[in-house]
Amino acid sequence: MNNQPILQAQNLSHEFDYPLFNALNLELHAQETIAIMGASGTGKSTLLNLLCSLLKPQSGDVIFQNRKIYSLKKQELLNIRRDDFGIIFQAHYLFRGFSAYENLQVASLLSKNAINNALLKELNIDFVMNQGVGELSGGQQQRLSIARVLTKKPQVIFADEPTGNLDKKTAQEVMNALFSYVKNNGAGMIIVTHENEIAMQCDKVYELNDLELRVIK
Ligand SMILES: Nc1ncnc2c1ncn2[C@@H]1O[C@H](COP(=O)(O)OP(=O)(O)OP(=O)(O)O)[C@@H](O)[C@H]1O
Ligand SMILES: [Mg+2]
Repeated sequence: MNNQPILQAQNLSHEFDYPLFNALNLELHAQETIAIMGASGTGKSTLLNLLCSLLKPQSGDVIFQNRKIYSLKKQELLNIRRDDFGIIFQAHYLFRGFSAYENLQVASLLSKNAINNALLKELNIDFVMNQGVGELSGGQQQRLSIARVLTKKPQVIFADEPTGNLDKKTAQEVMNALFSYVKNNGAGMIIVTHENEIAMQCDKVYELNDLELRVIK
């Protein structure tokens, strides 16, 4: 494993109504997967937002490829978000007037990467490609949004409860697709999950608790 992290959080502190974390540090290496667990309201989604370029921390830095992302010009930050980061959140932001396939075509055109049909089969959504997004089940929409993010070929995947809507078997299939993407593309991934069994399949597991990340694995 390359020793230089692809993503690094240094001394992150953030609070809303109450402090969420204080001087938190985290490193993600290529081909590595990290799970973050913890009770509701401890700040897991907020941490993911800080790491993935969507929310500037009140103090501390997020470093991607040796650049402090929140010190960059706005356009440079947007470029990283568009080209290098794959963000999978529970609100999926699919284009609702479009078919499933058209949603993937947009990602494919923007990133100049081909749609991966094997991935669609692996996620078990290959047979719904001609349906409108509004006609898909919640779990199918979730898997479509994961396929769309992977079509971009991101360096780092951030996923907030990516299997939250899914039955156990489908959840495992989705995680397998994400894990194999990470290993095959030298990417990294940070997921937030409440499911112990899913978390433990990651290389490292932390619990956000009392303002800091406690090592579980
Ligand atoms: N934009 C915001 N403005 C004000 N408060 C916020 C904002 N985002 C989050 N919070 C607060 O920060 C705290 C942590 O929220 P967060 O969503 O990070 O928790 P979480 O660990 O992801 O919880 P869950 O497991 O329920 O998803 C909550 O008290 C929440 O109300
Ligand atoms: Mg959350």
